[in-house]
Amino acid sequence: MKIYEMTDEQRIKLLLDGGYINQNQAELLRSRQTISTDLADSLSENQIGSFSLPYGFATDFLIDGQNYLVPMVIEEPSVIAAASNAAKRIKNSGGFKTYPTPRIVYGQIVLENITESDVAQLEQNDSEIFEFAQQAHPSLIKRGGGMVSLKFNHYDNFEEIELGIDTVDAMGANMVNTILEKTSQKISTMISGDVLCSILSNSGQGQVITVETSVEYDQLATKTMSGEDVAQRIVKLSTFAKKSIKRAITHNKGIMNGIDAVLLATGNDFRAQEAAAHSFAFESGRYQPLTEWHLANNKLVGTLKMPIELGSVGGAIKALPMAQLSLAIMKIQNSQQLQSVVGSVGLANNLSALRALVTTGIQAGHMGLQSKSLAISAGASGLEIEQVAQKLNQTKDYTLKNAENILMELRKK
Ligand code: MEV
Repeated sequence: MKIYEMTDEQRIKLLLDGGYINQNQAELLRSRQTISTDLADSLSENQIGSFSLPYGFATDFLIDGQNYLVPMVIEEPSVIAAASNAAKRIKNSGGFKTYPTPRIVYGQIVLENITESDVAQLEQNDSEIFEFAQQAHPSLIKRGGGMVSLKFNHYDNFEEIELGIDTVDAMGANMVNTILEKTSQKISTMISGDVLCSILSNSGQGQVITVETSVEYDQLATKTMSGEDVAQRIVKLSTFAKKSIKRAITHNKGIMNGIDAVLLATGNDFRAQEAAAHSFAFESGRYQPLTEWHLANNKLVGTLKMPIELGSVGGAIKALPMAQLSLAIMKIQNSQQLQSVVGSVGLANNLSALRALVTTGIQAGHMGLQSKSLAISAGASGLEIEQVAQKLNQTKDYTLKNAENILMELRKK
């Protein structure tokens, strides 16, 4: 039986039987009560409940020779289907190859009212500042991370001390901010000027990952178009995204569909990721697509290059049982591995979107899936949902009015 044809209980059993999750985690999924009052109180303020989104998993990801099921949290129908669909075509062509990097998070200590002698004093004592920052979070050094760079940047009326910190497997916001604030106290004793603020940067420049894939033409064919034609059209649309900023933005939105869904499923800060991704897209001074597709050796070759800001330990990732469950399903050992998975999902969602756009258009698949939520909005429940959805797909009139009429007719019978 295909996974998308299973009931939720059958899918939970599949995860249990496959050793992805344990009995407690299976119960957590079945209970649909995934966050306790105490946990909600500790993670946010004024809490009065929890807000649910569908949790599912994409299939057929072969990344650096390893197979993955990838948990995703998303309210948009077709994103998980699209990720799985492209992942299968890519798996049949050899899979994804990824090139993650160490996790360097940059932080800024911003100074004002600075004199020339302050700047000289700071520059002369750069090793002392470096060493002080290094000792500000000793547990990070034990984990193999710590300070990697220290740089002074001069601006009109401001001086900036930029620290580069390897946060290993943690997203590291708290760690980096702690180091920055401690170091800024030390710095304020060394100069006559003042500290304006100390904060990490979400630029993501130290966390840029590359993901590559080569897709066989026959994996791209549709009923009416050859794989080579589809590949050529994908390349043209990819080229157009480099020329049209409006298209590049939508192109990148399709990539973020997959990326944010995995970040949410793993308790990661998707706002940080969004900030990093779009600033990187603008790095050349012109907003650009985050992936590129071209033809080589009778294959469609795709590359994703972008920062992926995440952690696999600490904070909400550790506290949220569902985030732990997601990491378990992917058997994640470290943050680089998670980066590789997240980047691959972004590339897969992009391929699916481009293939649909240059062939049938996205509405065919999209509305087919959206018909179920339309049926529910019209008041359908239980078996009625599938019946109304099927009729909506037959009539191809995806309006609430049509769904309501179909439901009314159904109930008359
Ligand atoms: C929809 O959520 C995403 C797409 O618009 C992406 C794209 O156009 O590449 C289909």
